[in-house]
Amino acid sequence: MPESMRLSDEPLLDADAIAARVAELAAAIRRDYDGTPLTCLVVLKGAAWFGADLIRLLPESTVVEFVHARSYDGAASTGNVHIETGAGPLAAGSHVLLIEDIIDTGHTLAALRARLLAHRPASLKACALLDKPARRQVDAAADYIGFEIPDHFVVGYGLDYNEHYRALPAIYQLIAR
Ligand code: IMP
Ligand code: MG
Repeated sequence: MPESMRLSDEPLLDADAIAARVAELAAAIRRDYDGTPLTCLVVLKGAAWFGADLIRLLPESTVVEFVHARSYDGAASTGNVHIETGAGPLAAGSHVLLIEDIIDTGHTLAALRARLLAHRPASLKACALLDKPARRQVDAAADYIGFEIPDHFVVGYGLDYNEHYRALPAIYQLIAR
């Protein structure tokens, strides 16, 4: 653990709260797509945990792809989004649901949207577990949002601080000592 930082004593969102909300999101997605074949594009690394839990609750026909995007250095967004493995071999005409861990400044989602639209999907929506609307710098809204949270830096359930804490089963606030 970095010496200058500590985790909040209590989780901001515990594992039960996360699981309950993930089930609600999956139910909403199933209802909206109503059997339309869906391609989930999971944004690595942070959304791998959320994506795995969410996709388990989606129809068995769901196709899963991954894209690696990175914009953070420590707890600061660089605003400079690196999409490191292309945007996945998406079939033109597919219905794509981007799965993100958190929307912060909005740069990552905006860059991914622009990149994906070049693949001519039949539709493109986004689902984010967390949203920090107070931090938004560019217009980027998700169609499905798990939790709106205040302007806190959070870790756990896939979210990292310099690659640490992803393995925590709940989401904690990271606090400067
Ligand atoms: P954006 O491009 O600023 O919207 O940032 C999106 C990405 O930054 C997310 O996919 C996360 O990887 C990372 N990020 C933003 N806020 C946090 C946070 O509070 N904890 C951990 N990672 C974060
Ligand atoms: Mg990250």
